[in-house]
Amino acid sequence: DQIEKAGYDHFMLKEIYEQPEAIKDTYRGRMLPEKGLIRMSGVDDNIEKFLNAKRIIVIACGTSWHAGLVSEYLFEDFARIPVEVEYASEFRYRNPIINEDDVVIAISQSGETADTMAAIKIAKEKGAFVFGVCNVVGSSISRETHAGAYTHAGPEIGVASTKAFTTQITILTLIALKLGKQKGEISNSQFHAYLNELNTIPEKIERTLETNEEVIKVAEAYKNAKNCLYLGRGHNFPVALEGALKLKEISYIHAEGYPAAEMKHGPIALIDEMMPVVVIATKKGHYEKVVSNIQEIKSRKGKIIAVVTEGDTSVKQMADHILEVPDTIEEFTPLLTTIPLQLLSYHIAVMLDKNVDQPRNLAKSVTVE
Ligand code: G6P
Repeated sequence: DQIEKAGYDHFMLKEIYEQPEAIKDTYRGRMLPEKGLIRMSGVDDNIEKFLNAKRIIVIACGTSWHAGLVSEYLFEDFARIPVEVEYASEFRYRNPIINEDDVVIAISQSGETADTMAAIKIAKEKGAFVFGVCNVVGSSISRETHAGAYTHAGPEIGVASTKAFTTQITILTLIALKLGKQKGEISNSQFHAYLNELNTIPEKIERTLETNEEVIKVAEAYKNAKNCLYLGRGHNFPVALEGALKLKEISYIHAEGYPAAEMKHGPIALIDEMMPVVVIATKKGHYEKVVSNIQEIKSRKGKIIAVVTEGDTSVKQMADHILEVPDTIEEFTPLLTTIPLQLLSYHIAVMLDKNVDQPRNLAKSVTVE
């Protein structure tokens, strides 16, 4: 066990720190920035299906569903394909409307989740092309789908998913960029720029991991909170959901993720001096609007932990704590903003003496309904 943890106290921490390498493993051989090319056999062999898709339906559970939500923005931005993201457990019992020109993407770290498997079978019966994004090679879902791509994140042992999430996003980014390029939605020069930028993400994650000491201070300050709110907009709305899920899963603190602008329709009623609010406020993502949300929280005495772009000054003046991530294009920010939120939940759980790698009542893979 100790050897497998490679000097880290927990698998979760090891897996958080593995993300730069895991992401490189995900795109190695697939993304060729110098040639301006993305190649993925599962997509290349079925390119007509993808290019003719009237709609993409993403099915998944848990953290994989959050990766699906991130991909909704990516497919719509880059490839201009409408996307629906469904919980597999809802989809399977809803008599879903699926057409032969729909592409269904099933996302699953383990490749064994019962609800996702059942949803895939329904989609296949209705004639859709089903593409799998799995981490575990040879898993049931990877065998049941028509084609797919492995994330190559390596084994993920911690029950709270970390590197599986960011590598799923990486794969989905590659597919969205590839389709955008082939559909003529992305120019050659833009495409080159995107690939070069994606290629810098592992190094930018390394730099984000250096905020660990700062995250420990935040964890120390809020470890006794009873509730926590996570806010984000656009590409970072799913990151807010994932941040809240991580905290719930391993620290058992109640946390909710919300689209920042929806705060006024409910969660704002909960804000007082006892409520820490994690706000993702990267420079390009609806920045001014998120800043005004921060003001609303401040005026109700909420405590603000802001995830911002390096060098930010406006939010810095208002927030109680700042966690910086390097600058990147808005579409790739989830790969960076996720990192401090993973670390935050990890440190709080450790400080509360919880079983980080095997939280109560949760399983790594849910193979029953
Ligand atoms: C369980 C795990 C989560 C995971 C979810 C979906 O709830 O604890 O970490 O996100 O299942 O699992 P999958 O293997 O399909 O991604």
